[in-house]
Parts: sequence; structure tokens; C-alpha cells
Amino acid sequence: MTSENGQFRKAGPEAGELLEPVPLAERSVVLVGLMGAGKTTVGRRLARRLDLAFVDADAEIEQAAGETIPEIFERHGEPAFRAGERRVIARLLAGAPQVLATGGGAFMDPTTRANVKARGISIWLKADLDVLVRRVGKRGDRPLLQTGDIKATMKRLMDERYPVYAEADIVIESLEGPHEAVVETILEKLEEFRAEHAEHAHAGPAHD
Ligand code: S3P
Repeated sequence: MTSENGQFRKAGPEAGELLEPVPLAERSVVLVGLMGAGKTTVGRRLARRLDLAFVDADAEIEQAAGETIPEIFERHGEPAFRAGERRVIARLLAGAPQVLATGGGAFMDPTTRANVKARGISIWLKADLDVLVRRVGKRGDRPLLQTGDIKATMKRLMDERYPVYAEADIVIESLEGPHEAVVETILEKLEEFRAEHAEHAHAGPAHD
């Protein structure tokens, strides 16, 4: 996955490239949140309900690199992973509207955040520390959690990231229940968000 072999490079815009905004009706729905928040599971169901394609950014990064995420971290380091993540997400957001699940660190990147704002409606799946720790415990392949104390690491990531995730357009707090209930809440909030912003679009001063 080096930039020399071009695997990531041919996948999309250069790092740092900012995408042109599109109208609300053409935006993707972008799920953000910490590892274990359920972005992929909820995203798949949400996509079915919205009749949109579901895309998992982590899976796309693995495909572009021809390596798994643990391999990318191990062989190239986190900065290379982040650069690839930025480019792959820009390429995905440049395409047709979709439901896009992003890895937990993606929204922390200022370019990705700007591109999500221009081309997406962002939804933060917010969960308590204990819920997240219980969920991430079930999968042992996350490079950032190869530490002695998963709870302490998750707490640190929460402290660093929650103020930035808070920039998302919509925040969904209750993640304990069945996924279907979370999906229903997202659909309601999406409708509210669209209605509110459609009003704003018409509320500007009249020009003749
Ligand atoms: C990461 C989260 C992972 C993956 C990578 C780094 C992070 O995705 O992108 O291991 O920085 O929080 P999930 O949030 O889908 O587990």
C-alpha cells in the first residue's frame, strides 16, 4: 500500500483535495463514532431502508490496499493508513449518494470532515464507554486496541474524539436497544434534519 505502487493513488483525489458541495437531496448519509458503536451493522440496515447502497470505508481501504487494516498499520504505520483513509473516503464521497460507515478515526481528519460536510449528512452514533468496551471486546483485530487496557484506551479516544464527533449533523444517543430501533430513530432525525434545512434553503432573502 505504498504511494509508489499507486494502489491508493489511482483510487481517487489527492490527499488534501476538497470536494464541491452538493444539495441536500444528493448527499450521502455518513456514520461516524468510536469503534464498537455499530456503524457497520446499523449502516447496512439503514441503507436498506433508504434504498441506497451501503459502503464500509474500512473494507474499501482494505480493497484499495490489497492488505487488511492490521497489516496496513503493521507494515506502513498509522500515518500511511490515515492518508489512504482520507483518499478513499474522498473518492467514495465524490460518487453517488450512499450510506457510508467510516472508521472511528476518519472524522478526526480535517479534510475528511470538510468533505463529509460538503457531500454528506453526518450521523454520530454515540455510546457510553461500558457499552463500547463490551462490544469491542468481541473482535480482537483492531490495531489501536492492541494495548493492555482496552477500557483506558477507549476512554482516551473518547476524550479526544467526542468534541470533534459533536460537529456531526445528527447525534443518536440511545444505542443499547435493538438495531432496528436505532435505525428508526435515525430515519426520524434524518427527516427532521432535511425538513429544517429545506426551510432554511427557502428562507433567504428574495432576489429578482
Ligand atoms: C480506527 C477504527 C477502525 C479502523 C482502524 C482505526 C480508529 O474502524 O478504521 O482500526 O482510529 O478508531 P471501526 O471504527 O469501524 O472499528
